[in-house]
Amino acid sequence: MEGIGSSSAKVTFNLLLATSMAVIGSTFQFGYNTGVINAPQTVIEEFYNQTFILRFGHSISQSTIDLLWGFTVAIFAVGGMIGSLCAGAAAERFGLKRSMLYNNSIALLAALLMGFSQLANSFEMLIIGRFAIGLNSGINMGIAPMYLTECAPVRLRGMFGTLGQLGIVTSILLSQILGLHWILGTSQLWGLLFSLTGIFAIYQLLVIPLCPESPRYLLIVQKKEKAAIATLKWLRGDDYDSSKELEDIRLEFQSNSTEQKTKISELFKHSHLRQPLLIAVVMQLSQQLSGINAVFYYSTEIFLNAGIPKEYTGLTTVGMGVVNVVMTMVSVSLIERAGRKILHLIGLGGMCVCAVVLVVLLNLDQSETVAWLTLAPILIFVAFFQTGPGAIPWFITTELFDQRSRPSAVSVAGLANWMGNFVIALAYPSLDGAIGGYTFIIFAVLLAIFWLFTYFKVPETKGRNIMEITALFQPKNTRGVLTKNLDVADDVIFENGTKF
Ligand SMILES: *[C@@H]1O[C@H](CO)[C@@H](O)[C@H](O)[C@H]1NC(C)=O
Repeated sequence: MEGIGSSSAKVTFNLLLATSMAVIGSTFQFGYNTGVINAPQTVIEEFYNQTFILRFGHSISQSTIDLLWGFTVAIFAVGGMIGSLCAGAAAERFGLKRSMLYNNSIALLAALLMGFSQLANSFEMLIIGRFAIGLNSGINMGIAPMYLTECAPVRLRGMFGTLGQLGIVTSILLSQILGLHWILGTSQLWGLLFSLTGIFAIYQLLVIPLCPESPRYLLIVQKKEKAAIATLKWLRGDDYDSSKELEDIRLEFQSNSTEQKTKISELFKHSHLRQPLLIAVVMQLSQQLSGINAVFYYSTEIFLNAGIPKEYTGLTTVGMGVVNVVMTMVSVSLIERAGRKILHLIGLGGMCVCAVVLVVLLNLDQSETVAWLTLAPILIFVAFFQTGPGAIPWFITTELFDQRSRPSAVSVAGLANWMGNFVIALAYPSLDGAIGGYTFIIFAVLLAIFWLFTYFKVPETKGRNIMEITALFQPKNTRGVLTKNLDVADDVIFENGTKF
């Protein structure tokens, strides 16, 4: 890659250390706990059943277990929602480094609660633990991408921004592998599987004392210029001349701070902000209500219901995780080249077709050949997700707003994203219990609606600067006065563009 090795963009050991601290210690919590509940569903449902028998003297009904398991999975997103709302305040008050540091206490508490829930015969501990690790993940996903981009050399920011996304998909895969029934996905060991999330917290606790606060936070918020210079030298090498970068951070801050920030309530008041906000929110919902998390949370069960023999459902879930990682890498280069809108349309359309094919296959007569055939639409569903809907909603959200309104818009979009995540996680087991093989018809219909919305309402943002984009939503008579070719859009794309 251009820039590696030149003095302004050297990738040093220290930079890699700080990066690994943020990727493993923070983004892994989100990915691991997204994937970890998938493989051991059956054995944990059996534990819920046994707990019921122990306490109430009768076994659990199928509809209660569907609801209770859905709740166990979904409460992660409630924690995430609250965490994402706290992330901004935590960053302002403690800085990025100390926010990550303190956040590990929540992760360790969650690991203990989940790890000991079986010993204590308490599924409530698992549920509270899921809530706590969701809280931890929500905070992490607000802070770690910021830390990654602020520590990266300017020229490599895009690449470092995508590391967050790669961290998520890698840790989903890791949780799926560890959850295999001949590794930790057993009725004795699933507690250990859940508590392993504490390892990422311990790694971060060990490495974070060696890592600095982000240079931007030191310079702008704490006004410690010497510390900022020392940090830049630590990250970039002793011979690094930090004056240009310090100047850039200051300039960027000054051009931001002269303008008043837009409050969240103001986003709803003015039509030129309400329209892009609606687009951003619907794009987030299109990501979550596409049914992707029905697959990430429940694929083992889906494969089982399709008729794939039990001993293989873990492996097929791992296969899905591999497709997810590979397609995430492919999409990084696709996004650099192709337009956002077209990629999103291809992704949604492909997912819609896969959902329909899956429903047809699930309702054919149950032979084992047909069961194995269901693997294809599910894997391709995931591949299409990573083509567009996986990343594009975050790109569009950041690109539709200028510096003033972006932080508020990203908060609202994040909330919509977690809410969509919650709804699918909670509803899927009950829906599946009620209509079985037809559940994906609901996703197919939703995907078709989101496709139409994207086609008619979402503007192409690629290749347009931020002034041109925001001008699209201005009343017509003010459009003429906008200055063209203020090319700022490219610099800001990655700031918040790395969420799942
Ligand atoms: C609960 O356990 C009992 C006894 O082991 C079993 O008969 C019943 O089918 C189980 N219920 C569910 C929903 O798994």
